[in-house]
Amino acid sequence: MKIAGKTIAITGAGRGLGAAMAKRLASAGARLALVDLDEQALLEAQTACVKAGSPMVEFYVANVAEEGPVEALFAKIASDFDALHGLVNNAGITRDALLLKYEDGEQVSKMTLEQWQAVIDVNLTGVFLCGREAAAVMIELACEGCIINISSISRHGNVGQTNYSAAKAGVQAMAVTWAKELARYGIRTASIAPGFIATEMVMAMKPEAREKLTRAIPATRMGEPDEIAQTVQFILENDYVSGRCFDIDGGLRL
Ligand code: CAA
Repeated sequence: MKIAGKTIAITGAGRGLGAAMAKRLASAGARLALVDLDEQALLEAQTACVKAGSPMVEFYVANVAEEGPVEALFAKIASDFDALHGLVNNAGITRDALLLKYEDGEQVSKMTLEQWQAVIDVNLTGVFLCGREAAAVMIELACEGCIINISSISRHGNVGQTNYSAAKAGVQAMAVTWAKELARYGIRTASIAPGFIATEMVMAMKPEAREKLTRAIPATRMGEPDEIAQTVQFILENDYVSGRCFDIDGGLRL
């Protein structure tokens, strides 16, 4: 796909990886539909994308975890742009906690159902809903397109992330399923599994946990958000990529 002039939607575009993806695709001439819950962050991302050279940037405040709002969101994107060629399913949250924590034989904490459900709702259900609605728009507007799910190195299983690891394994599997189901409509899908990237999400980890993990990265540093954005651009541009997961983690294996 040639990115210039194409319409790409990005969820979680207000900051972090999503904002970096938006900026890079703006520089390549994409028209952008930016989705987030944070309106102020979206305004700032929109300004940055216009400055970077995007010919059209609209933003939408929407919760990806809710079916009605997601259906309305993609209907609005379709009417605003009259096209949709790409979706990056990037919106995600963490609610880290150990499954169970015992001290001296006594249970002191456990991952709560709320922590489990919040992450599953946004990181798994949100990807399902946005992927489904984006694909429907692509099919109905006869746009050959590409859907990229942002997975994580945690999909292999990471201490403190029962909820997040389960969701991130799920979105990788969904990308494989959709590659098989949607190829007949000219839609490719893929996933990216970032390692530890210097974003607010990673910086919010307990300092001890973050330092321990950073020491284990063969590349000896955290990744930069634009290194994930670069991978998004590669997947969009290479028409023979489909169904696969790209590990961008500086060589780290959890
Ligand atoms: N590896 C192995 N064991 C670990 C561990 C690790 N990374 N982290 C914790 N443990 C075990 C240890 O046995 C630890 O006790 P000791 O250190 O004394 O041996 C025990 O769990 C208890 O850990 P805490 O004292 O840290 O327990 P806590 O209840 O205060 O905190 C936690 C639990 C919130 C899960 C905290 O450990 C934590 O933040 N861990 C890191 C979770 C993580 O990696 N998050 C990634 C966020 S970034 C992201 O998600 C983006 C992405 O896609 C990669």
